[in-house]
Amino acid sequence: MKKGKKIYEGKAKIIFATEDKNLAIQHFKDDATAYNNQKKDIIEGKGILNNRISEHILSNLKQIGIKNHLVKRINMREQLVKLVEIIPIEFVVRNIASGSLTKRLGIEDGTVLEYPLIEYCLKNDELGDPIVSREHILAFKWMNILELDWINEEVKRINDFLQGMFRGVGIKLVDFKVEFGRSQINEKNEIILADEISPDTCRLWDANTDKKLDKDRFRKDLGNLIEAYQEIARRLDILHEQTNIRPLKFTKPKAVKIKKK
Ligand code: TMP
Repeated sequence: MKKGKKIYEGKAKIIFATEDKNLAIQHFKDDATAYNNQKKDIIEGKGILNNRISEHILSNLKQIGIKNHLVKRINMREQLVKLVEIIPIEFVVRNIASGSLTKRLGIEDGTVLEYPLIEYCLKNDELGDPIVSREHILAFKWMNILELDWINEEVKRINDFLQGMFRGVGIKLVDFKVEFGRSQINEKNEIILADEISPDTCRLWDANTDKKLDKDRFRKDLGNLIEAYQEIARRLDILHEQTNIRPLKFTKPKAVKIKKK
């Protein structure tokens, strides 16, 4: 698929047009930003890891019936995706209190929530992505009530799946952010999961030590961000370091002689 004009450039990704009006190329950059662009850096290799991790997660979500924009990964940094019009709301799901929730409400960092908490933020950098209520979303027609209720159910399913997937490899899914978009293929209007799911958009803690394995390493100047993202990829079995690959030894089964009676 030929790469066309740049349609949109965000903080961590670029979207390019293709010769198919329904498809786009999503390019993962190495740029890291935090605190509404006040902190910036380029972390070599981050885009490659996020491309792989997000591909893994979105293709697994597709297998359990969560429709999303991923068509296929094309190369180290790019994916072919369905072109969508992004709904201007970020859906944040929290299982453990951390980040802005602790600052806003004084909840102690690490408090396990009795049930997942869904928050909505308006996608607007100038306003600092303010938190908005369900009533704001409906009043300003960013979505209708059916769409909002449907997305709420969808994010709960995504949370259940991701929590299980990460728990299985010794990682706590503290919180994450997802975005949805409207796609229009063959005159059919559909809302599908879009953007990315990666350690840039999730808080992931080691289940035994609570070590941060996500973008908080950058936000909080903890260092070793690439090592943490590699650890996530390694545990999800999508990063195979040559030195770790040992060919499985297959022993030939012994022929069993069947005695004729
Ligand atoms: P927060 O604690 O800063 O509100 O973030 C909650 C989660 O959502 C965290 O995993 C980071 C993610 N997130 C993004 O990926 N992008 C954003 O713009 C925001 C506000 C949060």
